[in-house]
Amino acid sequence: MLRLENVTHAYDGRLVLRDISLELGEHRIGLIGANGSGKSTLARTLNGLIVPDSGRVLLDGLDTRTHAREIRRRVGFVFSDAAAQIVMPTVAEDVEVGLRGRGPTREEIDERVRCVLERHGLAGHRDHPAHLLSGGQKQMLALASVLVTEPEILVCDEPTTLLDLRNIKVIEQTLRGLAQQVILLTHHLDTLAGFDRVLVMDAGSIVFDGAPDAAVAYYTELMALSAPTEGEHQS
Ligand SMILES: Nc1ncnc2c1ncn2[C@@H]1O[C@H](COP(=O)(O)OP(=O)(O)OP(=O)(O)O)[C@@H](O)[C@H]1O
Ligand SMILES: [Mg+2]
Repeated sequence: MLRLENVTHAYDGRLVLRDISLELGEHRIGLIGANGSGKSTLARTLNGLIVPDSGRVLLDGLDTRTHAREIRRRVGFVFSDAAAQIVMPTVAEDVEVGLRGRGPTREEIDERVRCVLERHGLAGHRDHPAHLLSGGQKQMLALASVLVTEPEILVCDEPTTLLDLRNIKVIEQTLRGLAQQVILLTHHLDTLAGFDRVLVMDAGSIVFDGAPDAAVAYYTELMALSAPTEGEHQS
């Protein structure tokens, strides 16, 4: 289980995460909040992409400060900027690259790549240049490339931003169907129906933690009350 203990982080002296302590045990957890509230920063601490200035992030007791490699293998991360996540020329190669050096044989690799492309509607694009996929197809590819490595926990930072309604549904269904734990950051509040727990962030703090309906209501109220800002929060 992921556990945050008094996690605090600043960029250039500006506090972005303020003393956050959480145990993330539920199967499907949502994280919502205004632009600039700190969601992506928090998400990046979960697999050690960001090590907090103070406090600890632990996965089954392993600290991201000292076990980043192992934790990164167990906690998969899907970025909203899918294009930035594409590293190989063709679709199949991009999915395959994460499996290399992890032990599976050539046949096993081919089979896993075939399955994951099939499942994400990309089978017909197997040998196409990945950079020529549409924005939505790139997001599907990014998800496929992480899922093929079979992480225990999947952290998705707005994986549906570029998608059409049909592909939003496809990603939603994919996330719902996963056996592994999912931590989803999103501005698509409908996606959170049926989640086990939703956290609301504001100015670097968790200001609500509960069921999806109540969290969405809290967030909606919060946004109605607060004047638009530029995401600037003084520490
Ligand atoms: N690498 C960085 N260097 C300096 N400041 C940063 C960096 N990354 C994020 N910030 C700042 O930290 C704050 C929180 O950013 P973060 O990306 O975590 O917010 P967010 O909740 O994910 O927002 P959004 O909904 O727009 O994705 C913002 O004010 C942002 O400008
Ligand atoms: Mg973000």
